[in-house]
Amino acid sequence: MALTSQLTPVLSEHWDEARSWTLASYERHDGYTALRTALQTSPDDLVKLVKDSGLRGRGGAGFPTGMKWGFIPQGDDKPHYLVVNADESEPGTCKDVPMMLASPHQLLEGIIISSYAIRAKQAFIYVRGEVLHVIRRLHQAVREAYDAGYLGADILGSGYDLDVLVHAGAGAYICGEETALLDSLEGYRGQPRLRPPFPAVAGLYSSPTVINNVESIASVPFIVRNGVAWYRQMGTEKSPGFKLFSVSGHVRRPGQYEAPLGITFRELLDMAGGMREGHELKFWTPGGSSTPLLTAEHLDTPLDFEGVMEAGSMLGTTALMVFDETTCVVRAVLRWTEFYAHESCGKCTPCREGTFWMVQILHRLEHGEGSEEDIVTLLDSCDNILGRSFCALGDGATSPITSSVQYFRDEYVAHFEHGGCPFDPMASMVVAPVPVGARAL
Ligand SMILES: Cc1cc2nc3c(=O)[nH]c(=O)nc-3n(C[C@H](O)[C@H](O)[C@H](O)COP(=O)(O)O)c2cc1C
Ligand code: SF4
Repeated sequence: MALTSQLTPVLSEHWDEARSWTLASYERHDGYTALRTALQTSPDDLVKLVKDSGLRGRGGAGFPTGMKWGFIPQGDDKPHYLVVNADESEPGTCKDVPMMLASPHQLLEGIIISSYAIRAKQAFIYVRGEVLHVIRRLHQAVREAYDAGYLGADILGSGYDLDVLVHAGAGAYICGEETALLDSLEGYRGQPRLRPPFPAVAGLYSSPTVINNVESIASVPFIVRNGVAWYRQMGTEKSPGFKLFSVSGHVRRPGQYEAPLGITFRELLDMAGGMREGHELKFWTPGGSSTPLLTAEHLDTPLDFEGVMEAGSMLGTTALMVFDETTCVVRAVLRWTEFYAHESCGKCTPCREGTFWMVQILHRLEHGEGSEEDIVTLLDSCDNILGRSFCALGDGATSPITSSVQYFRDEYVAHFEHGGCPFDPMASMVVAPVPVGARAL
């Protein structure tokens, strides 16, 4: 039976080493040995290897990575591109940024192998513009890789050429949506494209393009180095492998936990030291703010694509935001909805108008000025956005609302019955209050 219940540090194994981000440190731990193996393997065999491993995309949807690569037409005369999605912007999601900071060469080695497999000679890393420290580190790693002969012309004497360009976005959540990302990379305003055609056929500059998440691509060298059987020992039959779980909120030890898919939320919470002293679990997100909330009833949910779906939510980006009984669910949902209204690109009416109005209603409800009718209108708005929006941002904006009303309708009602929010926001703060008279830093 595959392993599902303990930590399996692979991507994060050497993060705590001094200067772990340097080429020297990466090479000390067999870095770029998978590239040497890959360059002696045919591109088709590499695509098959990744297909056989069962690796599923880590950007949220869990689409099989090898299958996506297999859609790239072969023998055509168009250039092929690999685009790494490093836009990481969903509330709670914080796995790609720490990975690129601690070990950017993992990603680069993955990029070179993946580009070779899809016969691309140009790859891009589209990184969120606000994370300047990450952008600098990526630039430094790319420079080191060129100097060492891992990038550029005739890589390691194999005859294969590849250039990598680090592109900083301007900081928009929608530019993480893969087709909006392509528009942004081409220099247009980042808005989703109509599909078909899909990027594998007509992506960047209308050429065949693979877009993958940072963690998906960074996993590839380890699969090449250790093989399919090793990879499949971890995780479950349909969701194999290791995964970075980002645990935040009211837990004793928030942070990145790398564990096999299928670990239960209860096990992961135990590893994070449990809930903060004297408090109990109220609700949590399995994969960022666009995945429906779950509650204490769902503690034994296996954190894999199938297990979380069965519980009524989605694995998403495995960003586990954990909230205790001091948190007002209406206030939390209002915050997230403000985020979606702000980040809506405005291309389609249900999302552009709907997120704006949902913020107004939630604001009224949170301040005790709402009514039963507001809850009905809120749910009706969600009905009109879900499945009627141009992209998944609109759908995602409805998840926290519908799931919070499903589990905590009484709390919504208590706000207008009580004439205001019954919670003390200070009680849910995890930062110690500044003592009176203390100097601001
Ligand atoms: C609004 C929105 C934001 C997204 N943001 C990201 C992101 O920051 N990083 C990411 O990898 N995928 C993001 N995605 C998913 C991408 O569209 C795409 O599915 C993913 O990059 C594919 O990579 P994967 O197959 O390796 O998961 C986002 C999707 C939507 C709708
Ligand atoms: S759903 Fe929202 S983000 Fe997506 S295209 Fe429509 S307006 Fe833009």
